[in-house]
Amino acid sequence: MSQQFDVIVIGGGPGGYIAAIRAAQLGFKVACIDEWKNAAGGPAPGGTCTNVGCIPSKALLQSSEHFEHANLHFADHGITAKDVKIDIAKMVGRKDAVVKQNNDGILYLFKKNKVTFFHGRGSFVKAVDGGYEIAVKGAKDETLSGKQVIVATGSNARALPGAAFDEETILSNDGALRLGAVPKKLALIGSGVIGLEMGSVWRRLGAEVTILEGLPTFLGAVDEQIAKEAKKAFDKQGLKIELGVKVGEIKTAKKGVSIAYTNAKGEAQTLDADKLIVSIGRVPNTIGLNAEGVGLQLDERGAIVVDGDCKTNLPGVWAVGDVVRGPMLAHKAEEEGVAVAERIAGQHGHVNFNTIPWVIYTSPEIAWVGETEQQLKARGAAYKAGTFPFLANGRARALGDTTGMVKFLADATTDEILGVHIVGPMASELISEAVVAMEFKASSEDIARICHAHPSLSEATKEAALAVDKRTLNF
Ligand code: FAD
Ligand code: NAI
Repeated sequence: MSQQFDVIVIGGGPGGYIAAIRAAQLGFKVACIDEWKNAAGGPAPGGTCTNVGCIPSKALLQSSEHFEHANLHFADHGITAKDVKIDIAKMVGRKDAVVKQNNDGILYLFKKNKVTFFHGRGSFVKAVDGGYEIAVKGAKDETLSGKQVIVATGSNARALPGAAFDEETILSNDGALRLGAVPKKLALIGSGVIGLEMGSVWRRLGAEVTILEGLPTFLGAVDEQIAKEAKKAFDKQGLKIELGVKVGEIKTAKKGVSIAYTNAKGEAQTLDADKLIVSIGRVPNTIGLNAEGVGLQLDERGAIVVDGDCKTNLPGVWAVGDVVRGPMLAHKAEEEGVAVAERIAGQHGHVNFNTIPWVIYTSPEIAWVGETEQQLKARGAAYKAGTFPFLANGRARALGDTTGMVKFLADATTDEILGVHIVGPMASELISEAVVAMEFKASSEDIARICHAHPSLSEATKEAALAVDKRTLNF
């Protein structure tokens, strides 16, 4: 006899666990199945984000930033820090502890919200009258049945053909987050979000880092002016980024790896390194779900096909997060999870794709929401732009971090904000104001007229809004 639920969620990452909690809040009897195991074989809900993504990468970015500050910037404040050393095992141990706090937090939230958690792999068995039968294979095998199923099985790192991840020399995000020592020479393929964040971590700790990027443009999805400013900062830090390369054969030896590639000029090159991180994007994960068994439709990339409401081709089956179209971001997965739970309850859940913020947690941080200047040009939009440099912001000077700027793009006629782009200190926090403004369809004048605390980095946001009307007060 199977255990009956109103809603079964397969996958306990940010898409899945949040969907489960919201569905439980709405009064449904909910199960969430997740197979992630911690080092001891126990449950570790939270998915890629918590275990090998957002959270551990930010923990290492923080540790490595402290190390760099102690080495390079303390002296500016009159602080002498001699013989600054880093204990990699301790740093990685701290990161693991932060991950565990988050795993445990989710288990607590399941209890608090009366979500029944199953540790194991969930797969479709068959459609049954008014729902689906789902098998759980784990320490204990179970059969569940649910009226509604939400699939939130996430994504996996994409490997380069002929260079499978061994997590020793050729690393995915997983291996990149648990190196036991600082590699002398570190190569990365792909200068996207992971390439830049992980490249920054290990460069700050002393590795000689080279990133090989296939595209001729640096951060093509980012506003060009912002990407240019960020590239200048990364060059200054010694983060080597080669654009427009074509990667050839990758050979591993007992020690290290050798990467053959053609550079932008068409010259044959070889890059030798101790470790290689491959960060060329991620692929949706439906392994072991038995999607084909029940006729769940996938697209050519392996993503579950959904409509604008996250409905799949099967009645009562929904899918959210990295396993469906759209940006692979934790907060996008969460918003979809909430919206689906609310739709199941007959409410009008909604995700506004135009106001999903992006953040790259490098130093300087890069954050944006809405359209870039190149996108506005491409669609022939009439717009006004305003920028304000952190160099002219009092708080940034006091912090000792004046790199970058805030940039506003607004409709030339209505002044509605169309995009906000930031490169600089705490861009990850500053972007929220822009998201709120865009959600409320604010004009740049609205932001320019709002009182911002002094001294604060957010004054640069206000000044960039003033700059749209060419009336900055402090520049
Ligand atoms: P996932 O988090 O991948 O969770 C899916 C879960 O489902 C996993 O636990 C998996 O084990 C489980 N699962 C899969 N199949 C089954 C099955 N059949 N049965 C049971 N369980 C199953 N995003 C941000 O927004 N901000 C960041 O700073 C950020 N940093 C990142 C850093 C790195 C290094 C990486 C790799 C990603 C980062 N991301 C970040 C992206 C973010 O991690 C993902 O967008 C997010 O985790 C997607 O959530 P999800 O719930 O769709 O899938
Ligand atoms: P990405 O899509 O950000 O970047 C991949 C890069 O690799 C691109 O620049 C691409 O042109 C390049 N590339 C692809 N194939 C290549 C090849 N064969 N040779 C050389 N270059 C090649 O993907 P990434 O960095 O792997 O991250 C995956 C996703 O995880 C991100 O897109 C993002 O959605 C999420 N993420 C989010 C973070 C955040 O929000 N701060 C942090 C890390 C990851």
